[in-house]
Amino acid sequence: MKEIIFKPELHSFSTCAEFAREFQLGSSDLILTNEYIYEPCFGSLGLDCAVIYQEKYGMGEPTDVMTEAIVRDVVKTGCKRIVAIGGGTVIDIAKVLAVAGEESIDALYDMAPDMPKRRELIIIPTTCGTGSEVTNISILNRTRLGTKMGLVGPAMYADAAVLIPELLEGLPFGVFATSSIDALVHAVESSLSPKATSYTKLFGYKAIEMIIRGYQTIAREGQQARLPLLKDFLIASNYAGLAFGTAGCAAVHAMSYPLGGTYHVPHGESNYAMFTGVLKNYMEIKQDGEIAVMNAYLAELLGCDVAQVYDKLEELLNQILPKKALHEYGVKQEELAVFTKSVMETQGRLMGNNFVPLDEARVLKIYQELY
Ligand SMILES: [Fe+2]
Repeated sequence: MKEIIFKPELHSFSTCAEFAREFQLGSSDLILTNEYIYEPCFGSLGLDCAVIYQEKYGMGEPTDVMTEAIVRDVVKTGCKRIVAIGGGTVIDIAKVLAVAGEESIDALYDMAPDMPKRRELIIIPTTCGTGSEVTNISILNRTRLGTKMGLVGPAMYADAAVLIPELLEGLPFGVFATSSIDALVHAVESSLSPKATSYTKLFGYKAIEMIIRGYQTIAREGQQARLPLLKDFLIASNYAGLAFGTAGCAAVHAMSYPLGGTYHVPHGESNYAMFTGVLKNYMEIKQDGEIAVMNAYLAELLGCDVAQVYDKLEELLNQILPKKALHEYGVKQEELAVFTKSVMETQGRLMGNNFVPLDEARVLKIYQELY
């Protein structure tokens, strides 16, 4: 049994300038980022690296088409090291850049997990959600298949993950909310996973505590109260990344992908749409084991009875990000069966990590309850 994977070296710096100096950024490096991040934080450093702004290739979450276009331009530069500075989209594309050559994205999925390491990779997250600086998975919207799928391989781990809290200062509240809820879901799903170990749970449960405590402060004092807590949220997201990097995510993520892929709902928000619906169904099937431990832990943090734990959790989360029913995203009743089929056929990797097995009828029932 794999206890926990610690692959990238973990670094932290107070400023971007310190990072650039320590890592000797230079002409053989390529920075993949967004202009609104690069200009204020790195623009004045006079770096000699090639820079690619991801948004020039399309907005929103990463697709196979967008990634292929970036790969083509990166291959032309001949760079030796990729430095990813950004949120989930930039990081997911950068992991592909570590392994991509001339082949199509579909060909990479066929090769996975045995892709060659073609470039060194440094990842610096600028949101407090994905934790994906420490994992080796990249989620792309496969537009030809109409769903999001994970591309995974050992060569996709970063060589170094770098935490710079300064980079989170400009994060709008909405992005803070969706990304930190994503981190909370990572921590909960990985702790309930059959692959969870005492090591992954050490990080998972601590991340849950840090995020819930932070949300309680924000609910009490207002959105500005997040600013002194950004470093905590960045660390919590990293903890959750370490936890799910080994123990995996599960049905919440699996079921959110058809919604996110079809209706372009941000990753953290589409997870939140599924979150308590999945937990309640786990409880209908099995009330003991890790879910009892989890519910007691949450009840203690939320100061409520174990029986009310999901309602209280939703009450708190709604103060950070209002939950919407599936029909509010434009989903049609008849699509629920299509979503279910897509989950059962393409998300086996995630569905294998469920606290208890969920069959097709159960997945459809959850969608209907959330509709
Ligand atoms: Fe996630």
